[in-house]
Amino acid sequence: MNACPALFITAPASGQGKTTVTAALARYHRQRGRRVRVFKTGPDFLDPMILECASGQPV
Ligand SMILES: Nc1ncnc2c1ncn2[C@@H]1O[C@H](COP(=O)(O)OP(=O)(O)OP(=O)(O)O)[C@@H](O)[C@H]1O
Ligand SMILES: [Mg+2]
Repeated sequence: MNACPALFITAPASGQGKTTVTAALARYHRQRGRRVRVFKTGPDFLDPMILECASGQPV
């Protein structure tokens, strides 16, 4: 069975670095040859654009 590690990133408020940290982690693992998929909750279209760029996969 293949491993599929998942990470849940959250913060108590806006502007606390969730997207920055998520984008950095996505790019870090992508550059090491892993397939990264990011999921986002909440009404936002800018963050998914950034995270798609970082992960190379649809968000
Ligand atoms: N392009 C940028 N230049 C300078 N500061 C930025 C830039 N993008 C974000 N920041 C700052 O970095 C910090 C973290 O932003 P980030 O978008 O990662 O937070 P967030 O937790 O994802 O917020 P939200 O819940 O609104 O999506 C904030 O203080 C934000 O103002
Ligand atoms: Mg964000």
